[in-house]
Amino acid sequence: MTQPIAETAPAAASTARWIARRLDQVEAFLSTHVPSDAPAGLGEAMRYAVLDGGKRLRPLLVLAAWESLASDADPEPGAPVWSAAGAVELIHAYSLVHDDLPCMDDDRLRRGKPTVHVRFGEAQALLAGDALQALAFEWLVAPPWAQQFPALAVALTRELALAAGAAGMAGGQAIDLAGVGRRLELPALEDMHRRKTGALLLASVRMGALAAGADGATLAALDSYGRALGLAFQIIDDVLDATADSATLGKTPGKDAAAGKPTFVSLLGVEPARAYAQSLLAQALQALDELPALRTQRLAALARWIVQRPY
Ligand code: IPE
Ligand code: IPE
Ligand code: MG
Ligand code: MG
Ligand code: MG
Repeated sequence: MTQPIAETAPAAASTARWIARRLDQVEAFLSTHVPSDAPAGLGEAMRYAVLDGGKRLRPLLVLAAWESLASDADPEPGAPVWSAAGAVELIHAYSLVHDDLPCMDDDRLRRGKPTVHVRFGEAQALLAGDALQALAFEWLVAPPWAQQFPALAVALTRELALAAGAAGMAGGQAIDLAGVGRRLELPALEDMHRRKTGALLLASVRMGALAAGADGATLAALDSYGRALGLAFQIIDDVLDATADSATLGKTPGKDAAAGKPTFVSLLGVEPARAYAQSLLAQALQALDELPALRTQRLAALARWIVQRPY
């Protein structure tokens, strides 16, 4: 079945119900599992960084990829896919805490709230990020499921480590900072975006599929989807920085231009950047068309949301 670019009204209503249910479940998981009792106020900073905000796109991608292969029923409580969904969000939340620090993007507003360092101080923000990163990997090797399925625990841990580390997010962030005030041509800009943001989105898709037991061919087809939407995501983030207002965005807009960041908007302009993201959406949907045996409607809906989102 060919995935239409626009969803029909009944499909959109079904997507909205699915997202609402999964968001509730993700919030409950995070709220239950991020500890408040870390010493010297660290737990409060960790929970502040993770809870009450965020689109939770990465956990939704994990769950949508899992559902495309496993079942459209709720995953069992304690199933590996919940740990995977939570762990990806922890890495993302930690990356935001550090991204906002004065030594990086120096941002004071995130998810509609003061950033973690503004609220708790720079040292505590640094440590909250450190602790969230460690906690993500703890969840991927936690009993009981990780002892029952050790090969899956290893595979998920490797995916997340590669996406978060020097080859992925951290490496992309290094390129981002080194690029301040410089013009990056399209291939270099794409490479930066694929690492700093795309890698974790791709890992979300792969981790959901791995948790559902995907074979190599399925993973490869899902990779095409994940790569296209990972790049589209950061292009739209660049567009929104240039076009959205602070109340909608929950962060301060206009920061990329003010900081001299190389972005798709600085290189191409707003409308060509949007058009490029739209063509990546078509590519992502096309990749799903090549998986007719899977239930891919949730993945398709999330790809549309990524490109058409207002914040
Ligand atoms: C923002 O990510 C940071 C980037 C990686 C570009 P999101 O737009 O997913 O942020 P939240 O999680 O919804 O706050
Ligand atoms: C951040 O990119 C990517 C991360 C790895 C956190 P941005 O710096 O553009 O993200 P925002 O716009 O501050 O959310
Ligand atoms: Mg940044
Ligand atoms: Mg930033
Ligand atoms: Mg941005």
